[in-house]
Amino acid sequence: MRRRRFLNFLLRAGAFLPFSFLRARDLVAAAGTPAVQLPLTQLEQPWSFVEFEFTKRIKSHRGLVPSTFPGYVMRIPDAIGAQLGLKNNLYAISRICPHEGCPMKLYKDRSEAPFPLEVEEFSNPMLLCPCHRSLFDPAQGGKVLSGPAPRSPWTFDFVVQKGRVIIKDLEPGGEKWG
Ligand code: FES
Repeated sequence: MRRRRFLNFLLRAGAFLPFSFLRARDLVAAAGTPAVQLPLTQLEQPWSFVEFEFTKRIKSHRGLVPSTFPGYVMRIPDAIGAQLGLKNNLYAISRICPHEGCPMKLYKDRSEAPFPLEVEEFSNPMLLCPCHRSLFDPAQGGKVLSGPAPRSPWTFDFVVQKGRVIIKDLEPGGEKWG
């Protein structure tokens, strides 16, 4: 008899588990997403980079909903970083292409690119969009070197604290394709 009562309890608890889990997740989202924190030790070498995903609540017809934006933080060589006026020579950039929102990838050199590129210069890692082949140069502040993209990729606001890069927000407009 005790065994049957215990089984009934488990069944009832199981029926509520998925609901409880979803409720907990919703509460986390409703309370806001903690800022992404990335260790500086992974960003010591020039052109080293770290991928991350930043979640931001954006307006939709359902109200404010969490949306995820992939990005890179990269270490720009000192001389270039100083010219660009970068904070700590770090560049935090969205991987969402400003043309039609495809996810972009960073390529270290031309030989890694999945198709021939129409540009002469490729002296440092570049961001490339696979959809319509827009190419962006982080050493020139994300300048569009080729393709139909109307602007450089959106950036992220960040601070450096206690050996970590803390991603705080996405540049206004960057949520367009979220
Ligand atoms: S979506 Fe990236 S170039 Fe069109």
